[in-house]
Amino acid sequence: MEKPKFYITTPIYYPSGNMHIGHTYTTVAADSMTRFKKMTGYDAYFLTGTDEHGQKIERKAADAGVTPKQYVDKIVAETKELWKLMDIQYDDFIRTTDERHEKIVQKIFKKLYEQGDIYKSAYEGYYCTPCESFWTQTQLKDADGVKVCPDCGRPVELAKEESYFFRMSKYQDWLIEYIETHPDFIQPPSRANEMLNNFLRPGLQDLCVSRTSFKWGVPVDFDPGHVVYVWIDALSNYITALGYLSGDDSLYQKYWPADIHLVGKEIVRFHTIYWPIMLKALGLELPKQVFGHGWLLFSGDKMSKSKGNVEYPAPIVERYGTDALRYYLMREMPFGADGNYTNEAMLTRMNSDLCNDLGNLVSRTVAMIEKYFSGVIPAPGEFEAPDKHIIDMFEALPALVEKNMNELQFSLALAEIWKLVGEMNRYIDITQPWILGKSEEGLPRLKTVMYCLAEGVRAVAVHISPVMPSTPERIFKQLGVEDENLKTWESVQKFGGLQEGTVVKKGEALFPRVDIKKELESLNAGKEPAEAPKKEEKKEKKPAPQKEEKKAESAPEGYVTIDEFFKTKLVCAKVIACERVEKSDKLLKSTLDIGNGETRTVLSGIAKWYSPEDMPGRTVVLVKNLPPRKMRGIASEGMLLCASDDEGNLKLLTVDGGVFTPGAEIG
Ligand code: ME8
Repeated sequence: MEKPKFYITTPIYYPSGNMHIGHTYTTVAADSMTRFKKMTGYDAYFLTGTDEHGQKIERKAADAGVTPKQYVDKIVAETKELWKLMDIQYDDFIRTTDERHEKIVQKIFKKLYEQGDIYKSAYEGYYCTPCESFWTQTQLKDADGVKVCPDCGRPVELAKEESYFFRMSKYQDWLIEYIETHPDFIQPPSRANEMLNNFLRPGLQDLCVSRTSFKWGVPVDFDPGHVVYVWIDALSNYITALGYLSGDDSLYQKYWPADIHLVGKEIVRFHTIYWPIMLKALGLELPKQVFGHGWLLFSGDKMSKSKGNVEYPAPIVERYGTDALRYYLMREMPFGADGNYTNEAMLTRMNSDLCNDLGNLVSRTVAMIEKYFSGVIPAPGEFEAPDKHIIDMFEALPALVEKNMNELQFSLALAEIWKLVGEMNRYIDITQPWILGKSEEGLPRLKTVMYCLAEGVRAVAVHISPVMPSTPERIFKQLGVEDENLKTWESVQKFGGLQEGTVVKKGEALFPRVDIKKELESLNAGKEPAEAPKKEEKKEKKPAPQKEEKKAESAPEGYVTIDEFFKTKLVCAKVIACERVEKSDKLLKSTLDIGNGETRTVLSGIAKWYSPEDMPGRTVVLVKNLPPRKMRGIASEGMLLCASDDEGNLKLLTVDGGVFTPGAEIG
């Protein structure tokens, strides 16, 4: 029977700098998923790659004194090395500078133009001449009332550039209906609401799809001087890599539509609005799912190349191995949510989950079989309650893992596996093999216990293999398992596959136990300090004694210290949508842009003084770090600051003068 197919992609990353832990996160997730699908009987295909065009790369190359192609070639080679180091097994790596890609992008652009979805007009916006960049009003910064470029801080002017545009608005109603009737299309579901409320329902603007102000892009073949701009070029990779329109589209026929596009949450919008519209216009099927995962944060801020606050995988992998980092990335935070990345948390997990729980289980099991049975796995006797408990868990595990993996809940899948690990460690404590081994009468029981442990360890090795591809072989070697049939998904559906008589062999510890403090010192040695730390980060980074002193310093009664004050994170936010909360005459629900592509939903008791139509476009002050609070079934993620007069009338606080970038800090 033909295997069912499964096609998964990562974003194609900008090779403007080296890939960091953030990119590694998505790529490891896609790789783990692919390996899981292959293990469970799918014909899985995994695509990743690089998005190499655009002005930013053109400039970086010029700064480095090389051609753009030379610039990206170097980073792409390093990226491929990194993926090798991370044990990433992609089926294809597409580069937007590949001829196979460029040719088809030109065909796609022409087709869309000829059928009237793309038209020629002029782009109008604020132009920064030194940077050769257009900005929208909201992107500009304000310097004493003058609008300036957010990149270089120099004044901008209104300017026009001839461009091609994609008629997005034509497809808006169709897309709204599609999203509403396909609840699995955008995951997690909160991101679907964000797309509908913030972008689709307020109305789509036509999208600028060509530029004349730079050259490093795919040329529009019927209009020299224009290059295809960003998203048509980038998004098409998912089908050009499969040979769409190329003359040999067998991969396209086999794998399209994609089962999952894995992306970071900041580009969900492009993948769930522009991309489906492009595909619809081309008459092609839509991907089955776009999953927008959360961000790895660094001291509460998005880890990103442009901010320079990044961790790179290589130093960590060199010290602790690829699997330790892969495990941490997939285990630490629920896929979908943001989470802080710290080396300390990674080392803590390694010590507890990998070294203590898994490592000890394997080494104790093998050591006891060596000690009591000269290394030969015995046949089990009759199973008693504690054994049956392990057997039940063993046989229930595949379904639990499969369910969570299919929902991309890597951390829950791993948690289920670690429950079995934990129970087996407890099983050793309960059954007390060291007492059973003391007498002849204990021997039959000891045999059963040793068999159950060895068989359970085998199952754990199989289950962890998608996330930790090299550890299972090390476990199998210690268990003496050579038969490939005992390393498969099928072989862990039923307890009892392991053969008596198999000879175990103690090996070195699977994971080292490390002194976290010392390791952190070594990892941080020689590292550049993170760029421009924020106020509260500065506080955290102060050496401990100073921190102690600060703690002791308290404000006089009725005052707060400056440190206490700065614990409250206040930021400028822009209201992008607002509506009344059903069955409440007090509450308005606002959707806020808080910068960096992040949005927040906030409920405020201001409906008496503001109508929902008054709100969009306002710059308001948000308390950003309050824990979410549910009101009328809706989670409010922060609070808008208001002033209240003698009669209790509320007025929203706003920021004086000019336009503020959402996310700008206050204080
Ligand atoms: O956006 N946490 O490329 P890019 C989690 N070329 N994931 C992160 C992350 C972080 N701190 N930082 C990066 C582009 N990522 C476009 C994509 S697709 C047709 C074009 C991951 O180099 C995450 O997957 O900026 C995010 O979406 C992607 O890298 C952005 O990579």
